[in-house]
Amino acid sequence: MRQAAKNEAVLTFLSRSANEGFARTAAASFVAQLDPTLDEVNDIKTAVSEAVTNCIVHAYPQALGKISLRLRLYGDNTVEIVVKDTGVGIADVDKAREPLYTTGDEARSGMGFTIMESFMDGVKVRSVPGKGTAVTLVKRIARRAGVPA
Ligand SMILES: Nc1ncnc2c1ncn2[C@@H]1O[C@H](COP(=O)(O)OP(=O)(O)OP(=O)(O)O)[C@@H](O)[C@H]1O
Ligand SMILES: [Mg+2]
Repeated sequence: MRQAAKNEAVLTFLSRSANEGFARTAAASFVAQLDPTLDEVNDIKTAVSEAVTNCIVHAYPQALGKISLRLRLYGDNTVEIVVKDTGVGIADVDKAREPLYTTGDEARSGMGFTIMESFMDGVKVRSVPGKGTAVTLVKRIARRAGVPA
């Protein structure tokens, strides 16, 4: 089993589009304590933005719902971020993860999961139709001189 988290934060917010920026900035701010590079922070912001946008657009298409963002830091300099909704869920997760697959309108390109995968070291998707979806994003931050372990 994985060791206990060194630090943890949980945020819950409504699926309003304004909260996409809030979630992205909150994740970047929490991760800052590991002294990441600008590239590492931008990777995390991009992945969180894609996951939260999916909740806003797909999980709750008709109404507002709740989204939770759980951030955890581990002793091996790994960040684990879970973006969770209790919306419509995904019937076929493997299909949803394929590049260019979308159930959205022409504004969507079907690249969200592919982007998450390319910017993070791990992406796990658990979903139950009618109950909701949890996307776990993992990234290892390179250790830098002057940052205590
Ligand atoms: N949280 C979610 N709840 C319900 N369905 C989801 C959720 N996240 C993703 N999906 C489903 O998975 C599909 C693929 O998601 P992905 O983010 O890769 O592409 P997209 O959102 O359609 O387009 P893009 O992200 O490029 O704008 C979505 O079209 C949607 O059907
Ligand atoms: Mg998307």
